[in-house]
Order: sequence, then structure tokens, then C-alpha cells
Amino acid sequence: MSVHISAKKGEIAKVVLQPGDPLRAKYIAENFLANAKLVSQTRGIFYYTGTYKGKEITVGASGMGFPSIGIYSFELYTEYEVDTIIRIGTCGAYTTDLKVFDLLNVENAASESTYAKFAWEIEEDIISHQGNISEIINATAEQLSLKAKATNIHSSDIFYRKDPAVPAIATKYDCPAVEMEAFGLFANAKHLGKNAATILTVSDIIPTHENISADQREKALKPMIELALEAAWK
Ligand code: HPA
Repeated sequence: MSVHISAKKGEIAKVVLQPGDPLRAKYIAENFLANAKLVSQTRGIFYYTGTYKGKEITVGASGMGFPSIGIYSFELYTEYEVDTIIRIGTCGAYTTDLKVFDLLNVENAASESTYAKFAWEIEEDIISHQGNISEIINATAEQLSLKAKATNIHSSDIFYRKDPAVPAIATKYDCPAVEMEAFGLFANAKHLGKNAATILTVSDIIPTHENISADQREKALKPMIELALEAAWK
């Protein structure tokens, strides 16, 4: 057991797929893993461990934002000896150059957040994916004939804000979309020398308010889930 995860030692796989939403973790476990077992449900944050094509994989939620993914990813890496975390999430596009359902494989996460600085004395405001899992995802996407665009992402602390303009840091680092977790995950992985990647599906286009409807979500997220599982399997 760790502070926020009640799984026993040995009940978490070396590779973890991490959606934000606990119910998405449940959906993935029930529909894509064999012999999935619920190993933690502290605070309603579900973790399941099962197998995919014979390989043990855990899928469990991060919750929303840096404080939450910071806690879960740190405990997974340090208390359960997890080697690799693949975040699978959604993002909002700042530009109509991206379309809903587009898949992104994050190269670097840029943030105004002080999380990395105050947690680990990492002074940079942009942190790359860690280890080789992102390259494996790129190669896997090619094999599956999926387009996973390599891109920078703005990782923000803020969902609702007064000024609708694209934040300066997103312009500075050429980030076409925004989410709220990758920077925290990459900071923890960098500090601990672990592997981390983030795959995102564009769920909304901020300037036009177009979005993937609730009933389209399951189908929309399927390519991302399959890509993450196939990459995790390798
Ligand atoms: N902002 C931040 N995170 C998000 C968004 C957004 O518009 N859409 C999906 N995740």
C-alpha cells in the first residue's frame, strides 16, 4: 500500500496506462484487458491489473491536474517500482489546424506551473517525454497506420480563465493544444529516471467550441487506447 493507492506490492505492473478519469480506467480494463482485477479504489481512483496479449499491464487514473497526477505517478514509480507510465488523455486545441479526434504524441510539455521547480528544483518551463516509450509509440502508430502527430503541448493549471487569448507560453513554445497533466508526469519521471509518454486525443476545438459529444467519446478514444496498449505490450 502507498498513501493514496491500496494495491499490495506486486499487484501493479511495470507498465501503467493512465487516463485522467477513473471510469475510463474501468472501461479500458473491462473491454481491453484479460483477467482484469481491481487492485485499488481509494478515493474512487480505480486501478486494474490484467493482461494484454499475455503481458501484465495496469490501467489506473491520474485524476485532473498536476497535484493529482503528481501524487499518483510518484507513488507508482517509487512504491510499486513502475518503469513506464503512458498518460492517455484528451486536450483542447487552440487552433483549427487540429481537428477533433486527432491523435497527438507529446514531445514536450510547457507550463507556467511551479510544480517542477518546487518539487524537484527543475527550473525549465518545458520538459520532454522521458525514456524511449515515446519512440515506441511513434513506431507502433506507424505499424497500426495511425497518425499520431508529434507535438508540444501546453500543460495548464487553469481550465476556466478571464482572458480567452492563447496564453503566452503556448505561443512561445508552439503548443497547438492544452491539457493539465503531462508536465507534472514528465517532471516526476525526469527526477526519478523513469519512462513517461503522453498520448492525447483532441476532444475540443477552443476557438469554435466544437467538441466530441459524450456518446462519441468511447469510439473516439479507441485508437488511442489501442495505440497505448500495443506500445505498452512491446
Ligand atoms: N483545457 C484544458 N484541458 C483540457 C481541455 C481544455 O480545453 N480539453 C481537454 N482537456
